[in-house]
Amino acid sequence: MKLQFLALVCIFAFSSTFFAQNSAISIIPKPQSVEQSGGQFTLTKKTRIVATGEGGKRLAAILNDLFSSNYGFKLSVGKKALSKDAIVLKIADTSGTEQKGENYTLRVTPALVEIAGDEAGGFYAIQSLIQLMPAKSAGDVGIPAININDSPRFAYRGMHLDVSRHFMPVSFVKKYIDLMSQYKFNTFHWHLTDDQGWRIEIKKYPRLTEIGSKRPETMKERNFAPYIGDGVPVEGFYTQNEIRDVIAYAKARYITIIPEIELPGHASAAMAAYPELGCKQDLKYKVQTTWGIFKETFCPTDTTFKFLEDVLDETIKLFPDSPYVHIGGDEVLKDHWKESPFVQDLMKRENLKDEHEVQSYFIRRIEKFINSKGKKIIGWDEILEGGVAPNATIMSWRGEKGGIEAAKAHHDVIMTPNTYVYFDYGQGDPAYEPLNIGAFIPLEKVYGWDPVPKEIAPDEAKYILGGQANIWTEYLKTPAAVEYMAFPRMIALAEVLWTQPANKDYADFKRRLAADLPRLEAQNVNFRIPEPDGLKNTIVGADGKATLTLRPFAPSYKIFYTLDGTTPNENSRQYTSPVEVEVGKDAVVTVKTIEVIPSGRKSSVYAATFVNREPFAAVEPPQKRPGVSWELFIPNADASGEGTRTTGESRSILLNQFEKNADLKKPFVTTFDGYMNAAANGIYEFQVDATWDVTVLLDGKPIIDDAGTKDRKVRSAVVPLEAGFHKISLRYNHRGGDSNFRVLWGLKGQGLGRAYGGELVH
Ligand code: ACM
Repeated sequence: MKLQFLALVCIFAFSSTFFAQNSAISIIPKPQSVEQSGGQFTLTKKTRIVATGEGGKRLAAILNDLFSSNYGFKLSVGKKALSKDAIVLKIADTSGTEQKGENYTLRVTPALVEIAGDEAGGFYAIQSLIQLMPAKSAGDVGIPAININDSPRFAYRGMHLDVSRHFMPVSFVKKYIDLMSQYKFNTFHWHLTDDQGWRIEIKKYPRLTEIGSKRPETMKERNFAPYIGDGVPVEGFYTQNEIRDVIAYAKARYITIIPEIELPGHASAAMAAYPELGCKQDLKYKVQTTWGIFKETFCPTDTTFKFLEDVLDETIKLFPDSPYVHIGGDEVLKDHWKESPFVQDLMKRENLKDEHEVQSYFIRRIEKFINSKGKKIIGWDEILEGGVAPNATIMSWRGEKGGIEAAKAHHDVIMTPNTYVYFDYGQGDPAYEPLNIGAFIPLEKVYGWDPVPKEIAPDEAKYILGGQANIWTEYLKTPAAVEYMAFPRMIALAEVLWTQPANKDYADFKRRLAADLPRLEAQNVNFRIPEPDGLKNTIVGADGKATLTLRPFAPSYKIFYTLDGTTPNENSRQYTSPVEVEVGKDAVVTVKTIEVIPSGRKSSVYAATFVNREPFAAVEPPQKRPGVSWELFIPNADASGEGTRTTGESRSILLNQFEKNADLKKPFVTTFDGYMNAAANGIYEFQVDATWDVTVLLDGKPIIDDAGTKDRKVRSAVVPLEAGFHKISLRYNHRGGDSNFRVLWGLKGQGLGRAYGGELVH
């Protein structure tokens, strides 16, 4: 008796806390219309599901699976109409039609939960319903009374995954699909083939997987690329049965899978398996073991087209529900075509004026075949070069330019710009983040994206079918690493693609995200814990004093910090109230924080730099030719002080441009001069990665001045800058042996680069 009473109290206590915390609705992506009324529906083990038709029954089973994993019970399902204590699914019977309505209504009253829509819409209503409920509960569950009318902004809401660079097991692909469906994505772009591995079984060409799915190791790359070089073999592919299983799994979650078979470039793995597909019969093709763009390109011979048509034929049969096949088309180096008598002959025969037109010829031929099978092609925006295939959908990745051009030409477009939605790009200061490919796309940037660029006229906006984030896996070796890059940025993207812009609000999104993350934690997702608010680089006043005021991303997160440059842990000082930071004249103090979430998981380090120094004033360059000028002085061996002096221009400040003109193992001196453009007021970091002695001057003041050794060493400086141009000079004194240097810069904490660190002029 006593025990029963206690249990009752517990349930009561649990639900009241639940409502205290969640009286605000936290559905992501935010529905188009939400009206809250008073009261709540109480879900108990006795609640029944009313469902009719095949679609209704499928959705009832989905609901029960969710209830079972979240709350440990399933509900009975019947057809009979009920007026209380029931979840009623009114799903339109659209079997035998093409209709795939994604709209829905969700009405919760104290008596009933009512869901209405087509089947996909009903599925999204379930996702919204689940987000009105706690992630886990041991007792009855209260659902706030509400009236939701919802529909997506875009018909195409995609996520991509590269399984070539690192193979991802079926179990993870399914988890990824599950997580996509939770946020109302409807398309999975499966990047199945590339230079570093062929991952789809093709019965007619078994060597594609016998040979093409294996690489003996991943090797260290050229010069400055992030180091992998772990010597570990990578292999794996999906059998056709596994692929069918994954497709069915996705279909049950209202997700279509689009396969990508890369052509004519990114073809090394296929050519390693079938060398006759290449233009150079004297080359030994191999599955690549480094990253980048390779010259290995399918030769446009009848042998190749026969092979590709066979592969595409099997692929199309495997993916019957996808209206598209993605044929790649990006980053095709034309060297082998230029050197091939066959291709040069083809150009004459087909009247193709350059190799871009050969690419266009290639894609058009493939499109014709794919269209003949009742499917359409998608290609990366390079397929616009040399003339776009007539019915192609363009996937715009090199920013939004290709998408704008294609929409203006009335081609369908899927926006996946690397300026907003490349989720392999960094999210924080590379000094503390797990190794990644670089750049900086934080959560807020993703959230602020509009897939319809301003350049597109209202009557052309209909060509933008939607958007997608791409996850390339060069530096993502495991599912956990992919999850870290995908979440929570993918949740921000879900809202970009679903919610009308007028309903978007980043502060409100962050509040809803904080309420949602415990669900991801319960699902064992290795999401990147979002930074605390208030952590920002600061130029302190002349008294050298500043106040650090932080707020954890969610109220339940704890913040620990250090001010002495050491890495914080749970034994460091805990942040509870604003902290005074003191910075000496011309000095820098780095505040390093971590957040610890209730499960005990720790975030990466999130830092802010406090600088006590006047910002350097911007200057006007006398002229603005792109790049920098350089001078190279190689002394004669005779110690006379005489030598050879050469000058030139280069796009950025690095050694590469000398590689062909001198023996750079001997001593030399070089200087680079130009003006860098600081895009915004702020604190910048400059970094030189070099052997030997370097001096970097900014606006005439030395910011780095360091005598080095023959070993490469990174030297850096932190400088506050006013937006605009600043004179930058590098002096490098090489005293023999391997020479190497490059200069990078960027807003502190946002990644360093020479391409995106600001333009250079001289
Ligand atoms: C791409 O990122 N090369 C499509």
